[in-house]
This record gives sequence, C-alpha cells and structure tokens, in this order.
Amino acid sequence: MMNAAVSCDGKKVATGLNIEERGWLVSLLGQQVQFDVPMRRHTTLAVGGPADALTMPADIKDLTTLLSGARQRAIPWLIVGGGSNLLVRDGGIRGIVIALTPYFKGITAIDHGLEIVRVAAKAGTRLQTLCRYTIERGLAGITFAVGIPGSVGGAIAMNAGTADGWISDVLETITVLWPTGRLQRLSRADLDFGYRRLCLPTPEIITGDHQGVIIEGTFAFPRADLQHLRISSQKIKEKRRRRQPVGVSTAGCFFKNPPAGPSAGELIDKAGLKGKRVGGAEISSRHGNFIINRGNARAADILTLADIIEARVAAEFGVRLEPEVIIVGESNHASKSI
Ligand code: EPU
Repeated sequence: MMNAAVSCDGKKVATGLNIEERGWLVSLLGQQVQFDVPMRRHTTLAVGGPADALTMPADIKDLTTLLSGARQRAIPWLIVGGGSNLLVRDGGIRGIVIALTPYFKGITAIDHGLEIVRVAAKAGTRLQTLCRYTIERGLAGITFAVGIPGSVGGAIAMNAGTADGWISDVLETITVLWPTGRLQRLSRADLDFGYRRLCLPTPEIITGDHQGVIIEGTFAFPRADLQHLRISSQKIKEKRRRRQPVGVSTAGCFFKNPPAGPSAGELIDKAGLKGKRVGGAEISSRHGNFIINRGNARAADILTLADIIEARVAAEFGVRLEPEVIIVGESNHASKSI
C-alpha cells in the first residue's frame, strides 16, 4: 500500500510511494521510471507539481505487469498522452503516471481497399504524425485534426474534434488493455462517444477494474485527391494561426462549448475578459477560450482565472461553462490521491 496519513477530517489519504513501491518500479522498469518528476515538463500548459513516479513502459508485457502490480498495491495510476489537455495542480500527482508516447507508437496500413484504406495507429503516436501520414497518401477523414496537438490515444479518449469532424467519425476499433491483463478489441458500435468524451464499456466492473488503457486504434480513411487534401490542410492551419494563439503554453480550448448558442470563446469575449491576468496566467486576447501560461504561472493562477470566467459567464449569460481540460492532482502536497 502507499504511505498513508490521516487528514484533518479523519480520512486516510495517500502521501506518496514508499520504499518497497519505488523498489518494485525500479526492478520492473529500470531506467524507464523517474521519481518526483515535475509535471510542468510534461504538459503543454507547463504547470503542475511532481508526480510520485513517471513511468515509460516499453511494451505490453511491461505495461501489464505495471498495471497489475499497481492494482495489487492499491496505487492509483494515470495515463498521459501528449499532456496537451491536462492541467496538473501544484501539489502534483500521488501515484504512477504512465506515459505511452515514448514507446507505444507506430502507424501501419492494414488494408488497402479501392476506396478505403484501413490504418492502425498505436496510442502514443502523435496525432499530427497520423495527419501527415494520411495526407501524404491521399487519405481523407482526419484533415480536421491538422494542428491539434496530443497523441492518438488522447484524441480517442477525448473524442477530439472541431466543427469539421471528430475522431469518432473515422475510428473503427480500439484495443484496450484492462488492469486484469486482458487485451480486448472493441468496435466502434461498442463505444459510447460523446462531446469530448469516450466511455469505455466496463466488462471488468465486477472486480472494480474498470479503468482500461487504450493501446491502439484502427481507422478507415476514404481515398481522396491528394492536391485537394493538401490545400484544405493548409487552409485549416492558416485559420488556426489567425484565430488561435500560437507558440505559447496553453491546453487549447479550456472550456467545452455549450450545447447550444454562442461558443465558449465568444461568451468569454463578450464578457470582456480577454487579456485578463491572474499571476502568470492570462486569457488570450486572440481567442477567449484559451488560457495562456505567460511563463511563470502556477496551476492555482489558471484555476482562479477559470473560476472568474465561469462566474462572469454565468452571471452575464446564465450559461454554466464546463472545463474541457482534464484537471488532476493535489492542490497541496500530500492531500488526496488522483
Ligand atoms: N469567437 C469570438 N471570440 C473569441 C473566440 C471565438 O467571438 O474570442 C467566435 C468566433 O468568431 C466564431 C465562434 O466564436 O464565430 C467559434 O469560434 P472558433 O471557430 O474559434 O471555434 P471554437 O468553437 O471556439 C472549436 C474547438 C477548437 C478547434 C476550433 C477549430 C471546442 C471547445 N473548441 O473552437 O478546439 O480548434 O473549433 O475551428 O470545441 C480544443 O479542443 O482544444 C480546441 C482548440
């Protein structure tokens, strides 16, 4: 078990990995585990305190052993992709962070049909690598994602998308590794996709092991005119450069768009909040739904700014904004777990 302490409200809370747990991780992963790693180095928002352990499993075997060992020891774990939609609080993450981008990558064409080409992409592959791969081969369907950072696994888990398309439109299957060690292939029809979310079916729910890891996705891309694809991808890139802040630390759009009516960016803009700062965090003056780390922001600055946005938009327009960014970790070191 992880080290435990008793909080002021009498609850048992995790405080980090003990010596046995650290030793187990080193014997399993060797150089592929680092301890007390600042998460600001692994997220595009560039904030966040230390993760107890950052692990980079080399293959399915290591990942399976890691998940089952964590399960036996009751250590919480969290998968990270590109860290581009993740806000880690300043107290960091108690438990194990599992990064798939170093080793779980690669793209393979699995079926060259006359009209459709089927492609498998490992979860740690960069989404932009998949976009380039398809455009260079005259394959349509994922051009909307040009310029979206992050990994294929993250894009599937979040159902990444824009007004022009969603990852769920072209996805055919995913392969999931469950903490019990079972690898399961699920087809699109088995998957419950929504706006910026994927709910995995939970066949292992009886044992409580319902947190699966997406290992790979397969996609069906229709063949299309190469020149046309190049032009539309160029247009998407230009539109993004015009409308969104580039070359700065952000997590993309911070809030989900409301189900109807003006977008979150427009509401924040109309509320007059663009350019507002708290500490090192700032609301982009280009696009209202982007919060920027100006270099020295703490997660707390970003969260305070997000609270101000939520309160102002609720008061002025009666709309409740919900973060799209996944917020994890502890406000202060040694409070509750993931
Ligand atoms: N708008 C404003 N002021 C602003 C920002 C936007 O008036 O400060 C207006 C725009 O003029 C437009 C409308 O709001 O009429 C929508 O804006 P935009 O086209 O920029 O799209 P969005 O809904 O804000 C969505 C995705 C983005 C994606 C763009 C691509 C969400 C939450 N966001 O943004 O995704 O890049 O479309 O067109 O769905 C992300 O998910 O991280 C992300 C950035």
